[in-house]
Amino acid sequence: MINRNYFISIFFLLLFPYFLSAQDNSNEYWYKNSVIYNLDVDSFYDSDGDGIGDFKGLTEKLPYLKSLGIDALWLAPFQKSPLKDNGYDIEDYYMIHPDYGTGGDLVEFMYEANKLGIRIITDLVINHTSDQHIWFQEAVKDENSIYRDYYVWSKERPDDYNEGMVFPGVQEQTWTFHPEAGEYYYHRFYEFQPDLNNLNPAVQEEMRKVMGYWLWMGVAGFRLDAVPFIIEDPYTGVEDPELHYDMVKQIRQFIQWRRSDALLLGEANVMPDENKNYFGDDGDGMQMLFNFFVNQHLFYSFATEEVSRLTASLEATKDIPENSQWAHFLRNHDELDLGRLSDEQRAVVFDNFGPDEDMQIYERGIRRRLAPMLDDTRRIKMAYSLMFSLPGTPVIRYGDEIGMGDDLSLPEREAVRTPMQWSAVKNAGFSTADHLENPVIDKGQYSYRQVNVLQQQQDPNSLLNWTSRLIKLRKSCPEIGMGDWELISTGSPHVLGIKYEFGSRSLLVLHNLSAASQDIVLQDNFQGYRISNSLENSKEKTGIRELQEFSIKGYGYEWYQLEN
Ligand code: NOJ
Repeated sequence: MINRNYFISIFFLLLFPYFLSAQDNSNEYWYKNSVIYNLDVDSFYDSDGDGIGDFKGLTEKLPYLKSLGIDALWLAPFQKSPLKDNGYDIEDYYMIHPDYGTGGDLVEFMYEANKLGIRIITDLVINHTSDQHIWFQEAVKDENSIYRDYYVWSKERPDDYNEGMVFPGVQEQTWTFHPEAGEYYYHRFYEFQPDLNNLNPAVQEEMRKVMGYWLWMGVAGFRLDAVPFIIEDPYTGVEDPELHYDMVKQIRQFIQWRRSDALLLGEANVMPDENKNYFGDDGDGMQMLFNFFVNQHLFYSFATEEVSRLTASLEATKDIPENSQWAHFLRNHDELDLGRLSDEQRAVVFDNFGPDEDMQIYERGIRRRLAPMLDDTRRIKMAYSLMFSLPGTPVIRYGDEIGMGDDLSLPEREAVRTPMQWSAVKNAGFSTADHLENPVIDKGQYSYRQVNVLQQQQDPNSLLNWTSRLIKLRKSCPEIGMGDWELISTGSPHVLGIKYEFGSRSLLVLHNLSAASQDIVLQDNFQGYRISNSLENSKEKTGIRELQEFSIKGYGYEWYQLEN
């Protein structure tokens, strides 16, 4: 006779898979309260003295990253590549560049990172390959090869062959004749980066294998390179091509099938009205996108010391699906792209932060690091505190935590990719080699003798220790990544005010973009504790205070936990 207990057991047995998956998914939103750090393996730390950073070196430096407080590491491409575009020209999706180590070194690295609770995100570059990729090599040799259709060809030179270049001034065309193939091939980027024909189901199948492989190796997600170009149909014209947004959803679906908490972080420098196409109306596209629109207006606001354009850009990018998230950043491995500003606005940013011609690039951007652009520690801290308090997830570029500079004698964006400055010894402690292909900065105020990790670790007031406290502060405020937010009027055109609500918590953050102190008049009378005191390493204790009329110092930043 079947008794009651039997039914109860069956009931729970049936629910078991649900509990399992619920547990598995419990951290699905990890990216909302995380801090992401980006680096290039070859510029971080060289373990074997050959002058090139490697996975063993990066593994040795994981405790440094852990102590800084980061949650996830985004690695620039490290696969086999001729390295003509910093690794964004991939020759083999499955093989690590031999200079960076072996597959074993990579697995050791993944294992150690996992032990420290650091998630690894890798770049996924599927818009194009290197022209050295075997697919392209086969494709040019034989028009009947199955690989021919992996790329995009035209027998005639398209009328718009010299339009739509991503690197104007350096790149001359988007369709180039290939003598061996006897046809023109399409390339959004440099001519050694032929675009894949991503509308070809065979290419999509290859890319699923690539994603599956890296997820199986333990990566927590991908920074998807050049998304609008992956999904374009190049035969519909380079200026206004047809875009296949459904491809984004298919990629998301695939990676989540393989790993339920896998993240897709997209590089799509698009106008606000296009955001939903990438996030998906129901948040079923990318979980995160870099907020290039806010980034450019942020620099405009730094330049003018007024917040109005920044607030407008925040409002314009506010309406995103519930589980979607912005990734905010100050600088990255590319130029500071100002292409979404008007000509007048861009000129103002150029005047302030990149006045010399050799600081500017691609007719739209600045190839400098943050510290030399802002050139004042108070202002750099304000900028970082502001970026960390924007609605979204902060992304830091390696070296910015110590205020590294740039080397404008290097070509194009290489200026901001010099080796990490670990100490004041030879080669900044990055490598023991006698010669570095990628030289360290050894002159002027940003030389490794002045700016390095070791020296800053020993100084409680250094930018490094300050940044580490900022990361801690940000992580103690989940309302920023998870809550609702509104801009509040501060009574000063120079001061940005944002108020967050999350459950029973609320937070008010204020940033003064100007060098002069400002009077603040809030419309509501808040009460709160100043929690940003922790950043200053000061012993001063502040109790709860009334917040309505007060002043904020030049480049001041104040975070208040509000009493409800
Ligand atoms: C965007 C990357 O950020 C950039 O560094 C690269 O040159 C292009 N995509 C081409 O992959």
